[in-house]
Amino acid sequence: MNLTPVKIHAFHKMIFSWWKDNRRDLPWRRTRDPYHILVSEVMLQQTQVSRVLPKYNEFLAAFPDVFALANASTGDVLRIWKGMGYNRRALYLKRAAEAVVAAYHGKFPNSELLLTKLPGVGTYTARAIMVFAYEQNVSMVDTNIRQIIIHFLFNGLLQKEKVIRETADRLVPEERAWEWHQALMDYGALALPRGAIKRTETKEKAVPFKDSDRHYRGKILDCLREKNTKESTLVTGLINMYGKTKGKYVAIITGLIKDGLVVRQKNVLALPD
Ligand code: ADE
Repeated sequence: MNLTPVKIHAFHKMIFSWWKDNRRDLPWRRTRDPYHILVSEVMLQQTQVSRVLPKYNEFLAAFPDVFALANASTGDVLRIWKGMGYNRRALYLKRAAEAVVAAYHGKFPNSELLLTKLPGVGTYTARAIMVFAYEQNVSMVDTNIRQIIIHFLFNGLLQKEKVIRETADRLVPEERAWEWHQALMDYGALALPRGAIKRTETKEKAVPFKDSDRHYRGKILDCLREKNTKESTLVTGLINMYGKTKGKYVAIITGLIKDGLVVRQKNVLALPD
């Protein structure tokens, strides 16, 4: 693809003139605090803006800074996370906070290399912090941005990831990376023709268990958010509710324990301290 300066300029103009009339005022756009940006980005990974909005405020009210999150109990973090799904995100967020406190006295690093060493932080999230918190001039590629690039600059033809990234780098307008990426986020969410988007991918790698397991994992955590429960009672309840075998639920519970989302004390299941 022949991406000339004239073409880049026209593309900037198209996106920014659309954005002038359509930009959203979102709470994570009023801050440059890397902790707040991390919380918003992790929440937005698999959840729609409308559902993130109340939870973002609730989460930051409960854990206003990285020290508060690092020092909280995992159970309290999971209880606040209720309704968001993909609960491992909450766990990674807490572990990332612990790492920032332990390794950097609570001050987030500002390089991609160091940020991607934090639990649950991949290239996309690291760059989101660099762009949205530190206003650094690097490019970010998520599902929507990839689709915008493919749609407008490659006539809808799929491209190798390397080509997309090189194109994204060349598109970042000098000293305006923050606005550029916020504009692309809004354009992707509100204006990109729906047919142009393949909605099956997520920004970071999808978590590798079956969707059906995800459902039962969520139900088990919902129950434990309410109260600690004997394993046998919980399994019997699940069998009454959904059928399936004892073996299946025991395997799912074992997975939750292995992931650090649930603990077993004697035969009672609970959220971790
Ligand atoms: N999704 C991920 N980051 C976002 C942002 N800053 N604004 C809107 N949607 C987003």
